[in-house]
Amino acid sequence: MATSAAGPVLIVGSGLIGRSWAMLFASGGFRVKLYDIEQQQITNTLENIRKDMKLLEQSGSLKGSLSAEQQLSLISGCSNIQEAVEGAMHIQECVPEDLELKKKIFAQLDEIIGDNVILSSSTSCLLPSKLFAGLVHVKQCLVAHPVNPPYYVPLVELVPHPETAPATVDRTHALMQKIGQSPVRVLKEVDGFVLNRLQYAVISEAWRLVQEGIVSPSDLDLVMSHGLGLRYAFMGPLETMHVNAEGMLSYCDRYGESMKRVLKTFGPIPEFSGATVEKVHQAMCVKVPADPEHLSARRQWREQCLVRLAKLKSQMPFQ
Ligand code: NAI
Repeated sequence: MATSAAGPVLIVGSGLIGRSWAMLFASGGFRVKLYDIEQQQITNTLENIRKDMKLLEQSGSLKGSLSAEQQLSLISGCSNIQEAVEGAMHIQECVPEDLELKKKIFAQLDEIIGDNVILSSSTSCLLPSKLFAGLVHVKQCLVAHPVNPPYYVPLVELVPHPETAPATVDRTHALMQKIGQSPVRVLKEVDGFVLNRLQYAVISEAWRLVQEGIVSPSDLDLVMSHGLGLRYAFMGPLETMHVNAEGMLSYCDRYGESMKRVLKTFGPIPEFSGATVEKVHQAMCVKVPADPEHLSARRQWREQCLVRLAKLKSQMPFQ
């Protein structure tokens, strides 16, 4: 457990993701400064964090060993970027997904930061080589991509710029572990990083199966939520191969040809438009109408499930 004596973490952009990072860092005992271009946004975020933390505490789901009040006392708002940067050991950028905006903010930060602070972006899909090009402090820059909702899904993808110092990745990896997240090192930048490449591969085949009339949209989702997804919540696809035969070599020997045969039948990249999108949309709306109330209720249900799953995972003796 870190103590509040550690240099503060600065969150730049206090929207959905900035707020989650603030809660996570505070749960690890770090002081957090929240900066945003909109003063009102900072005020709203601080209020929402207070509400969220109290509810989490009441339900026994608050992360870390500090009470909600102790964690709340670690978080403060700041509307002056120069002051906000002072003493920070880690800066987590969380502004909207717009390359030019992010580049502008990194250029601004590059001028005022020292040589010891880490400059980290939450971007979902902008490449480090584009985000950090030309920065004086490029060695201190990397992407730390969280998964929504970060408070309940611990994965963080760490993606370096080609000139990022290995120590920057190591320090960020250790920091993420300290706040209870599960960092992975993406060794070279690639479009979509790893999580979204896997996700898009699944979405793509799901779409083709529905488009070709092989399975209904709701049954397709069941294949994941009551089948593959259950297994993958505890064990990745490679380890699953390993244990589903007498080791990986045996699995590839037994099933390699079948996998290749099936993979050769995969179709082209779907258009995600036209009749299929209408069909999938209608099917989804039967269960969850696409209005804010229903969508929000469904998201909350998912968060409750993720909280319980996280508890179960932490109780399992061997991970
Ligand atoms: P958001 O729109 O909820 O929040 C963005 C915040 O940045 C707002 O509070 C806005 O006032 C502030 N902002 C805008 N310009 C600013 C500036 N010049 N200086 C300081 N603050 C500024 O966005 P969200 O969803 O939190 O996304 C932030 C980043 O996290 C994006 O890069 C996104 O791709 C990434 N991300 C988002 C996920 C999601 O599911 N929402 C998941 C993983 C990553």
